[in-house]
Formats: sequence, structure tokens, C-alpha cells
Amino acid sequence: MNLPKIHSITKKMFVGAVGAFLLLFLLFHMCANLCILRHDDGAWYSAFCHFMGTNWIVKVFEVVLLGVIALHILLTLWLVVTNRMARPQRYHERPRTKTHTNSRFMALTGILIFVLLIVHFCDFYFVKLGWVKGEYMVKTEKLINDDSGELLQLMQYADRNGFDGAALVANIESQAEEFGFQPNSEELQLFIENIRNKASVIDIILRAEKEQNFSQDHKWVRHLTYDERNTLRRVMPESDPEPDFYFMAREKFKHAYMVIMYLIFFVVVFLHISHAFPSVFQTFGLNNYKYNGFIEVLGKIYSWVILIGFSAVPLLVFFGL
Ligand code: HEM
Repeated sequence: MNLPKIHSITKKMFVGAVGAFLLLFLLFHMCANLCILRHDDGAWYSAFCHFMGTNWIVKVFEVVLLGVIALHILLTLWLVVTNRMARPQRYHERPRTKTHTNSRFMALTGILIFVLLIVHFCDFYFVKLGWVKGEYMVKTEKLINDDSGELLQLMQYADRNGFDGAALVANIESQAEEFGFQPNSEELQLFIENIRNKASVIDIILRAEKEQNFSQDHKWVRHLTYDERNTLRRVMPESDPEPDFYFMAREKFKHAYMVIMYLIFFVVVFLHISHAFPSVFQTFGLNNYKYNGFIEVLGKIYSWVILIGFSAVPLLVFFGL
């Protein structure tokens, strides 16, 4: 295999820089997640996720972050492969040096993190991309106000007559000629199609009213299904439905198996970063005998803060606190 020749130290520096970026991301992600612990009906966490989902700088950051994770994995694999190619013949005796054990340990915990991260993405991030079904919410004002005001008129009409969406369509369809449409004309079809679309939104609003699916003083309409989210994206793209991560996280962590799986995830992350932290300093030559002890302690504090901060969310939610 012919891999481009880049000095091993340069590769290590890339891995280190990327690792440092990921370490900072973890701290940021952990702090944001602590908002899930607030009993505020998701006001803070939803506002944060809304900002994350709509701000274009964050969107660029997200692409950079996922690229950086992929780069981190590829560079590490590349380091392992090129180091092995530099010594194709294995040692007769297994080396027992600290560095060797460390790199095997980092590879193992790295693989585990990758697998658990995919599971984590299936729980949350892929829901945002629409690849996995979840629960969604939409700002009430965006759902009720369409530009033409037609939706409001139809809703009042449906309300006065006790119609649901289907009954509303059937009623208007039967009176189409009274509205001045030729039977079977293209205009009539377009008119009916428009009413049908509006009626599907009316059904969503009616269900929300019946089940009291509102949060934060009616700011959001909650508990939208995947199909309802798709309907809104098609009929009212400006309504911009988004995943209800606050509710989803709180629901998931009511289950013991979820809590255990996430705790395993955090412990593996803890083990990985408590080794990675001093390595980053070593790679950039920022360690020396004088500061080694300090860097070790700082790494331990950092890893424990990450472990405790992340674990607090599933544990406290599970115990109803
Ligand atoms: C209690 C624990 C955690 C919860 C509740 C949680 C929740 C979430 C949520 C809701 C998202 C989607 C956010 C959005 O896209 O708007 C997300 C994304 C993500 N999470 Fe976590 N997470 C947890 C732990 C972790 C850990 C330990 C890691 C890394 C080892 C991690 C890495 C990521 C990454 C890389 C993304 C995608 C990038 C992003 O959208 O910010 N998460 N997480």
C-alpha cells in the first residue's frame, strides 16, 4: 500500500489539534445538556437547540465538528497503519512498554466511542436530520399564522360547524360550484388540494388542543409525530418543526437500560480523554518535568468534570429529580 509520506510527528500533531478541539466540544456539549435538568418545560434547552438548529454559524460548526471527528478517526488509523508498515516484522515478544499499552487502550476505547456515538446519533442527531423518527414541536405562532390568514378563517369555519379536516374538505368540495368553480376543472382541483393541505394542519391543531400538547405558556405545540412533521414541512415549510430534544431526553432516561448504556458511554469517554488530555500537551511539546504533574492533575479534573457532568443528566432524570 502506498500512503503519502508525511512525517509521523506531523500526523501526531494533527491528531493532537483535532483531539484538543473535540475536548473543548465535549465541555460545551456537557454544559448545554445540564439545561435538561431544569424543570422549566424545556424553555432553556429548547431555546438552545432552536439556536443550534437555525443559526448558520452553528450549522457550519456542526459540519466542521463531524468532519473533525471523521478526520480524528482516519488520522489515528493512518498513524497505526504507517507505524506498522515501518516495522512489518512483529516483535517476537509482545512489547510491554507503557506507550504500547496506551495506544492499544486508546484504539479500543476509540472504537467503543465510535459505536456508542452512532447509537447516540440514532437517539438524537439523526432525528434532526429526519433519518430516525422522534417527537417534534413547532412554535404555536408559526403554526397558526399563515401569510394569507386563510388557515385562521378555515379553522373558525371548522370550529363553528364542529368539523375535523376530512369533514371540512368534504363540506367545501360539495359546495365548490357555489364558490364559482366549474365541475372537474383544473382550478377546482387546485382549490381542493389547497383546502386539503390546510385541513391537515387544522387536524394537527385540533389534536394539540384536545390533548393539551402545549408547553411554556403555549409557546410551542408539542408531541408532533414524524408524519405530522413531514406534513408541516410540505404544507407550511416556514413553520419549521424541530425535534423536541428536551422531552425526548427526559423520556429516554426514564428507562434503566438507557441510563446504563449512556453511563457506559460516559465511562468509556472518560477513560479515553483522561489518556488523551496529557497526550495533547506532550504532542505539542508543552510538557516538561516541571509541569508534568500539573498537566496530569488538570487532565484528571477535566475528565472527572466531563464524567460527572454528563452522568448527572440521565441519573437525576431517572430518579425523578
Ligand atoms: C446526557 C448525555 C447526552 C445527551 C442528553 C446528548 C444530547 C444530544 C443532542 C440532543 C444532540 C443533538 C443536538 C442538535 O443537533 O441540536 C446531540 C448531538 C451530538 N452529541 Fe450528544 N448528548 C449526550 C452526550 C454526548 C457525548 C458523551 C458525546 C461525545 C462523546 C456526544 C456527542 C455528540 C455529537 C458529536 C453530536 C452531534 C453534533 C451536534 O449536534 O452538536 N454527546 N447530543
